[in-house]
Amino acid sequence: MASQRSSRALRLALRQASAPRVQQRTFVSAVNAASRPSLQTAQKSAASAFVQQTRGAKTVDFAGDKEKVFERADWPREKLLDYFKNDTLALIGYGSQGHGQGLNLRDNGLNVIVGVRKGGHSWKEAEQDGWVPGTNLFDIDEAIGKGTIIMNLLSDAAQSETWPHIKPMLTKGKTLYFSHGFSPVFRDQTKVEVPTDIDVILVAPKGSGRTVRTLFREGRGINSSIAVFQDVTGKAEEKAIALGVAVGSGYMYKTTFEKEVYSDLYGERGCLMGGIHGMFLAQYEVLRERGHSPSEAFNETVEEATQSLYPLIGQNGMDYMYAACSTTARRGAIDWSKRFKETLKPVFEELYESVKSGKETQRTMEYAGRPDYREAFEKEMEEIRELEIWRAGKAVRSLRPENV
Ligand SMILES: NC(=O)c1ccc[n+]([C@@H]2O[C@H](COP(=O)([O-])OP(=O)(O)OC[C@H]3O[C@@H](n4cnc5c(N)ncnc54)[C@H](OP(=O)(O)O)[C@@H]3O)[C@@H](O)[C@H]2O)c1
Repeated sequence: MASQRSSRALRLALRQASAPRVQQRTFVSAVNAASRPSLQTAQKSAASAFVQQTRGAKTVDFAGDKEKVFERADWPREKLLDYFKNDTLALIGYGSQGHGQGLNLRDNGLNVIVGVRKGGHSWKEAEQDGWVPGTNLFDIDEAIGKGTIIMNLLSDAAQSETWPHIKPMLTKGKTLYFSHGFSPVFRDQTKVEVPTDIDVILVAPKGSGRTVRTLFREGRGINSSIAVFQDVTGKAEEKAIALGVAVGSGYMYKTTFEKEVYSDLYGERGCLMGGIHGMFLAQYEVLRERGHSPSEAFNETVEEATQSLYPLIGQNGMDYMYAACSTTARRGAIDWSKRFKETLKPVFEELYESVKSGKETQRTMEYAGRPDYREAFEKEMEEIRELEIWRAGKAVRSLRPENV
């Protein structure tokens, strides 16, 4: 593609990268920062996005839809410590989220313990991260017994499998916390019928647990969804917000368990992972069938996307990325985007229906319920690794300055 476009995009990216990093941003500064590189009109509309500020909640105009957003700045550490002074947070499971949320809670000074299977992979990981057996690392039953807030961060399939055992331990006065609406929303399949006398809340970080940790360490925070499934005490929402901050969220968007799980399953199967992988493969295959070399096909499909253009979308939006590209690239991209949208929309409709009907969760549960699912998954990863596109990618990445 046009080198003019690439070099302009690169200059913009470099300018962005060399700009001083804003730490401890307030909500207002974030809204303003988001609008900074846009045109004057965009600056005006971004400024008016901020509608009202009351302590603990802001109403923001998201493209005409006014929503409440909660922010970390309203929950300084002292307030968090005071709020949870009588609580023991029992974090059950130590996968990607357990690791990120658990370490952030510990660094925030809260009384947090980890509960995992003794001798399992997670037990060893937790020990490596400094959790001490008998002090703040226990088996699952003991941790639930000690906890007042039970953070169920087992894999979604394991939440269902362990539920008959765990449920009787969720006694009145405890709070049940999830990071995904999967188990209670699809209870017909998971059998996770929550006890009726406890608060049930959700904080779902919008990213990997590794990112939850790195953003926290950088003094920033991840965006999270928060929701209430059952409010027995009248304090469930406030607790969800406080826990959201405690686990490392920057901004928290209110939703429902249903909406969280539908959008999450849909998104990861679509643009976030499955859809984008399908687009990469289709584009790459046509280039190869038309005689382009693996390196050219990879660079034009993945490398330029991930290294140059997608970060620009992330920084300031689609128009900003288009504006950083040549007239030739922009004209063609805008025209073809309409064709792709029309072609793909029915596929997305079908995907949403498949999520909502429970077909996707059924498949996940069946797959994760297989005794050999880890091996089966690894076999699929190996097949992906061995695809020509990703082998070409490995060679392209090996030439990056940091890898040479
Ligand atoms: N990963 C993400 O990016 C992400 C993002 C947002 C929300 N979430 C949600 O966060 C929750 C946790 O996800 P995750 O990705 O962090 O965890 P995960 O990797 O899916 O689950 C790992 C944990 O589940 C335990 N486990 C698995 N089978 C078990 C069984 N039969 N009995 C007892 N323990 C069992 C594992 O222990 P062993 O090591 O002992 O097997 C491990 O501690 C899920 O609800 C997920 O949907 C995840």
